[in-house]
Amino acid sequence: MKNVEIINKKPVAAGLVDYEKTHKEFSWEIIKREFDIDDDKVNIAYEAIDKHAKTWRKNKVALYWEGADGTCQKYTFLEMKKLSDKCANMLRALGVKRGDRVFIFLPRLPELYIGMVAIAKLGAIAGPMFSAFGPDAVRDRLQNSEAKVLITTPELKERVDAVLWELPKLEHIVLVNHKEDEELEEGNVCYKTLMRDASDIFEMEWVKLEDPLYILYTSGTTGRPKGVTHVHNDMVSHYITTQWVLDLRDDDVYWCTADPGWVTGTVYGLWGPWLNGISFYVFDGRFDAATWYEIIQNYKVTVWYTAPTALRMLMKAGDDLVKEYDLSSLRYVCSVGEPLNPEVIRWGLKVYGLPIHDNWWQTETGSIMIANYPCLPIKPGSMGKPFPGIEAAIIDGTGSKLSAGQHGLLALKPGWPSMLRAVWGDEKRFKEYFNINGWYATGDTAYKDEDGYFWFVGRADDVINTSGHRVGPFEVESALLEHRAVAESGVIGKPDAERGEIIKAFIVLREGYKPSHELEEELKIFIRHRLAAHAYPKEIEFCANLPKTRSGKIMRRLLKAKDLGLPTGDISTLED
Ligand code: PRX
Repeated sequence: MKNVEIINKKPVAAGLVDYEKTHKEFSWEIIKREFDIDDDKVNIAYEAIDKHAKTWRKNKVALYWEGADGTCQKYTFLEMKKLSDKCANMLRALGVKRGDRVFIFLPRLPELYIGMVAIAKLGAIAGPMFSAFGPDAVRDRLQNSEAKVLITTPELKERVDAVLWELPKLEHIVLVNHKEDEELEEGNVCYKTLMRDASDIFEMEWVKLEDPLYILYTSGTTGRPKGVTHVHNDMVSHYITTQWVLDLRDDDVYWCTADPGWVTGTVYGLWGPWLNGISFYVFDGRFDAATWYEIIQNYKVTVWYTAPTALRMLMKAGDDLVKEYDLSSLRYVCSVGEPLNPEVIRWGLKVYGLPIHDNWWQTETGSIMIANYPCLPIKPGSMGKPFPGIEAAIIDGTGSKLSAGQHGLLALKPGWPSMLRAVWGDEKRFKEYFNINGWYATGDTAYKDEDGYFWFVGRADDVINTSGHRVGPFEVESALLEHRAVAESGVIGKPDAERGEIIKAFIVLREGYKPSHELEEELKIFIRHRLAAHAYPKEIEFCANLPKTRSGKIMRRLLKAKDLGLPTGDISTLED
């Protein structure tokens, strides 16, 4: 066991005061009782918005919003209730019923947040999509979920138009920011006009705790993205992890930098804080170090939840920049999505005067599973300890627990409230998560030290993590194959100091095509446009052939080993 340094030796007591005691005595049932709910008559939207609109919080700001152009808006809980009621009435008038899928393809506009709440109010299922997605990614999601309605902007709709003919189940497209004097195509409606006419009193659709709430598509090693399906019951996990891990309190101004197209943005950039009646801030702009510090200064942000890539970029922007801003409002910082380097934590301590609390979870787990808490010392580089009520273990391939220090598969005991309930329309892929003796297998490898802290080692599969974004190699390979010049491709994640990993593609060209810088650039743009801006291969290598198994599967492991100059391991299944 390595001798690790410990920082935050005298932690502040907050929501979670005594980790060990709470861990021992914890019961999800007791937490659930904090909601006055009936299992068959519940709605997360009531708990997150409407409930607060009936109390002193009605005039409290629920959302501070700032556009990329500097436009600022704010919405109280009461305003949020009325707007989401209007939006729910609008969607109901379009024929949306309980269980229908309504997808949102928007930048981080207020309408995205209003829409998410409205969809829940209808008992419908929300599908938030990251605005950097291209037509292929959008098609995969709308097609697989059989979405009935899509909420988007005229600009983003252009990407949907390219695949509209493949989406026969899509009945309506609601256009936010549509110019009222411009003509609407058939099936398209104007958000502004319909909202103006809709009533701001909506009769809540009460659902069952186990009814689906949202679907987020995420990547595995093979196949199309999986529709990870979550339910209203997730709120029990959202509620308590927000309090105990993010340490949020009523007087906080909280900023989660994640987009709701990713699980962090849906859970901790929306439901978690609102279930606790917390005011949060949303910035619909790109990363820029100075702008980010200005936000913290101007909005007096107290709690900040961000990602290692952003922190590394801030570190690169330098210590002097930090000194130009008054960041004294900050009291708590958390990070998620990729390994957080110890040097970033040390740097944070130096320039912000605060430790950065890393935590670990996944789209499938629906809430934070392993974390560093305000009440526990931090070992830089460790993801922390399991949330009370979560049993995490390091296991071998048969499900036996390994001892402290041994590297193995990170697994969780199923049954916490926010665990995925289904892979949309794919029972087989859902069951694959539980193949190892009933454990939920995370796909990550890790180890646990003698003090019960978990340390991330890597992925057990080929999934790529670039800037905290999960990308499936298969999706990039398939998209590349759609290009006329590509005969075969193999895609890997390559370690990168800033982004964690970058995407590298090995490409065999078709007859008649020659490697060139121009072709390389063309392929990068092709993937950016077809699949997603974050999923394009930053590096491309043309080769004569790819290593394959005798059954024809590309051996990405070998591509990676060769690229990084590592041992190639077992190659007995390699084709000649
Ligand atoms: O590999 C782990 C990595 O991100 C994966 C989950 O990705 P996603 O479902 O997109 O959710 C990301 C945000 C909740 C994990 O399987 N990951 C997440 N957090 C950490 C991490 N890797 C290292 N350290 C973390 N703190």
